[in-house]
Amino acid sequence: MSFPVVRHRRLRRNAAMRNLVRETYVTVHDLIYPLFVTEGTNVKTEIGSMPGVYQFSLDRLEEEIREVVAAGLQAIMLFGIPDEKDAVGSQGYDHNGIVQQATRKVKEWAPELLVIADTCLCEYTDHGHCGVIHHHPQTGEAEIVNDASLELLARTAVSQAEAGADIIAPSNMMDGFVQAIRAGLDEAGYQHIPIMSYSVKYSSAFYGPFREAANSAPQFGDRKSYQMDPANVREAMREAESDVQEGADMLMVKPGMAYMDVVRMLKEHYDLPLAVYNVSGEYSMVKAAARNGWIDERAIVLELLTGFKRAGADMIITYHAKDAAGWLKS
Ligand code: PBG
Repeated sequence: MSFPVVRHRRLRRNAAMRNLVRETYVTVHDLIYPLFVTEGTNVKTEIGSMPGVYQFSLDRLEEEIREVVAAGLQAIMLFGIPDEKDAVGSQGYDHNGIVQQATRKVKEWAPELLVIADTCLCEYTDHGHCGVIHHHPQTGEAEIVNDASLELLARTAVSQAEAGADIIAPSNMMDGFVQAIRAGLDEAGYQHIPIMSYSVKYSSAFYGPFREAANSAPQFGDRKSYQMDPANVREAMREAESDVQEGADMLMVKPGMAYMDVVRMLKEHYDLPLAVYNVSGEYSMVKAAARNGWIDERAIVLELLTGFKRAGADMIITYHAKDAAGWLKS
């Protein structure tokens, strides 16, 4: 009888053999590329903490979209940075909001490219929270008003669908948000538009660079009352369960690297397609180390993406998508 170690080596002897027994593949079709769109003209501003990621005005976006399509990517996710913010995030659901305008443009330039709209109010509210705030008359304490927020989020989703968004991705974490958005979409005639719910969204320090990119840092307090405690995993099941019950078509775990166990768990418990969001802070860490020559960026990124898929993700939202698409081709 041969020793197991020899047996394993027999299957690793050369590239063809390794290809034959490989369990996990990453392809360009698994990747979703997030893009930040802003008002004004001739803006292509690199985000300091996210080298290679830019805020684009609409007139500079076309070139980027052409590159995305040429790279073979088939899905983008849009985040808007409006000029004007107010208490109720009106630019989030305005017919001429920046995401609505960008969506219409992208659909004109690249009708086949899937546009996923992030449905949240934090980029549009002057206080930077994901919903409507009420200050308690006695204590002055700020509180998120769940139901009023739901109504505005449903309006946001409908106006994004109206603009041509192919998938609605609510990231706000209000209670009952999937159901409210589903009802809103159905009533407005968008029964065919799927919801990719940010089901399990942790209150994470890894979102730091994004908040710079989207100018969406909360002006007071934090998001701990509506985002999840990083220490909890059974709670993730409850969050996912309610999204499934409310009609989510796809689930998501966010962030990725520190939450691979959560990805695996959701994969085992649900049969809905599962996304993982490889968030801004994860990207920044890789870029910073790569810039210092401390790691091999290409190898690290491909290994990370493989890890997400091996953990159970069907798709990966990642700022590395464009680079990775190139590496996967070569
Ligand atoms: C909320 C939203 C956030 C991210 C995506 N959607 C920020 C937050 O919850 O503070 C973070 C993504 C990232 O860090 O890359 N609209």
